[in-house]
Amino acid sequence: MSKRTVIKIGGSMLAELSEEFYKGLIERQRSGEELIIVHGGGPAINEQLERANIEVEFDNGLRKTTAQVLTIVKDVLFHQVNQSIVSQLQALGMNAISLNGYDHRFVHATLLDEQRLGLVGDVKAVHTDVLETALREQMVPVVSPLGLTECGKQVNINADTVASAVAKALTAEEFIVVTDVDGVYIQAEKQAKLNEKDIKKFIEQGDITGGMIPKVTGALNSLSDHLQRVRIVSGKQRLTVESGTVIEKGTLVP
Ligand SMILES: Nc1ncnc2c1ncn2[C@@H]1O[C@H](COP(=O)(O)OP(=O)(O)OP(=O)(O)O)[C@@H](O)[C@H]1O
Ligand SMILES: [Mg+2]
Repeated sequence: MSKRTVIKIGGSMLAELSEEFYKGLIERQRSGEELIIVHGGGPAINEQLERANIEVEFDNGLRKTTAQVLTIVKDVLFHQVNQSIVSQLQALGMNAISLNGYDHRFVHATLLDEQRLGLVGDVKAVHTDVLETALREQMVPVVSPLGLTECGKQVNINADTVASAVAKALTAEEFIVVTDVDGVYIQAEKQAKLNEKDIKKFIEQGDITGGMIPKVTGALNSLSDHLQRVRIVSGKQRLTVESGTVIEKGTLVP
């Protein structure tokens, strides 16, 4: 079976991604890798909310999502971000296909805390059929992070969380999280490697905050026998460069 790689593109990075970045993706696909892209949309969503005079509110890196906010989230994710990535990939000759976990019913979600966060979900299961079909046809799924609850409610899910669940469900061998910082910094020092114990400690101490929390916890949750490490990197560099922070399982002390 071909190697599978999940790449999460942060909304924070989208505007700055170079043609070189996209070309790097094309090279990977040409060399036989199966690629799956999951994207965020933070800054573009914030801009649109501000334009509509709606307050932007986050709680531990998760966007508080009223029904009104969700309408804007969907509009920005589908009509701006997803379409922009798909059309850039298609322009370079890649057969990219636009998918989202709600309309295509593959991200099954639970409401995280409706009282506190509104329509924000966590991933319960990823049904991989639609993704597998696309991959079989040599298409590159470009996934917007929305999900569906058991009772049919549409929910907004952090894109790192969706990407992690997709990587796990598809038994990907590589998972790269592309963002606007070149790794996890602890007191101004970039960390080459972090394991579960470090991450728990740094979140507790308040050294890892905001949007970095779902990133590192998602990375940890995605680790498996197939996926030994996750890289958090900046989109300003080429994906082939061994950079950023590596998240891996801690060595078990007997
Ligand atoms: N210890 C840390 N090291 C590095 N960045 C951190 C740390 N703690 C918090 N952050 C913040 O996390 C941000 C990255 O997460 P953010 O959610 O903003 O971007 P993204 O996930 O790439 O984009 P999107 O959410 O739109 O997909 C960084 O820009 C930084 O401000
Ligand atoms: Mg984020």
